[in-house]
Amino acid sequence: MLNLDFISIGEVLIQLNNISPGPLRYARYFEVHVAGAEFNVLTALSKLGFQVGLITRLGNDEFGEMVLRALRAENIDTTYVKIMDEAPTGIYFIQRHYPVPGKSTVFYYRHGSAASYMNEEDVQEDYVKKARRVFLTGITPALSESCYRAVKKLRDLAHDLGKEVIFDTNIRLKLWKTAENARAKLLPLLQDSKIVFTNKEDLNILFPQTTLEEAVSKLFQMGSDMVVVKLGEEGGSVYTKYGEAYYEKAYRTPIIEDVIGAGDAFDAVFIASLLKGFSLREALKLANLAGMMVVTVRGDIEAQPDWKALEVLKKFYEEKMDILR
Ligand SMILES: Nc1ncnc2c1ncn2[C@@H]1O[C@H](COP(=O)(O)OP(=O)(O)OP(=O)(O)O)[C@@H](O)[C@H]1O
Ligand SMILES: [Mg+2]
Repeated sequence: MLNLDFISIGEVLIQLNNISPGPLRYARYFEVHVAGAEFNVLTALSKLGFQVGLITRLGNDEFGEMVLRALRAENIDTTYVKIMDEAPTGIYFIQRHYPVPGKSTVFYYRHGSAASYMNEEDVQEDYVKKARRVFLTGITPALSESCYRAVKKLRDLAHDLGKEVIFDTNIRLKLWKTAENARAKLLPLLQDSKIVFTNKEDLNILFPQTTLEEAVSKLFQMGSDMVVVKLGEEGGSVYTKYGEAYYEKAYRTPIIEDVIGAGDAFDAVFIASLLKGFSLREALKLANLAGMMVVTVRGDIEAQPDWKALEVLKKFYEEKMDILR
């Protein structure tokens, strides 16, 4: 019988990443990658030895084939991947280092994509029963009304069946249109998530006019045990409902190719480290390392670490690069 450590629901897209830095109006060569927040997290978890599965839809087209190959290559269960004729596989472009050096901007061409047609029927109780945990993000519920209902069903089923829900707020205002919309739709979904991954910008949207500490305690009031705040090049912090709080600095890297996708590797490595029995501090350190690794390449999944790579890199920074932290 199929047993999965994690399942998720989300769109997998073709990422066209401009090889040159600068505005896309001058782009000549794009590098092709397969990416999508939930897919990225599952891929990272798979590299760390977990069994994972994704609920999604793809177009019946060449890019859908490419995504399917990526799912298989990364050992992600495709039982609930539906191929549909009526809509295409989504794509998006990445502009790097412009206007802000070291930052990237995304341009979506995903409206009306196959995945945006997901609905309650894509989420089957049978699949949730086979999974130990459910990983959700704030991206999928922003794709369409029917996607919102699909995510809500998965969340509700997970809670009814006693499965842990882990949620990354990942607010994309380009998809939600307004902060008010994002807040109204996301708050009910976040209720009772065991771990919430977020950042300062998202907390500000979810709980306006509060301090970071107040926002975190609101999430505890909503039933969370742990809140992880990602701080980009500053690193990350973790807070628990028992009052523990730790901060770990990011690792400095001489290469920043594309920061997109760092947060997804961070989530996966943090979760995996806790499941391995590592301390909160250690989990934060390893997650920071993983985020840093992803920043050094274009593409979201290619530089995600397995345990061996994490160990090698950690040793390298501890022994030789302490001065750089
Ligand atoms: N420039 C950087 N240098 C080193 N590490 C970085 C850098 N940017 C990100 N990281 C690492 O990756 C982690 C996740 O990055 P980030 O905070 O951007 O994720 P996020 O909140 O998920 O962002 P997003 O808005 O893209 O979803 C950081 O906590 C840090 O450990
Ligand atoms: Mg993120």
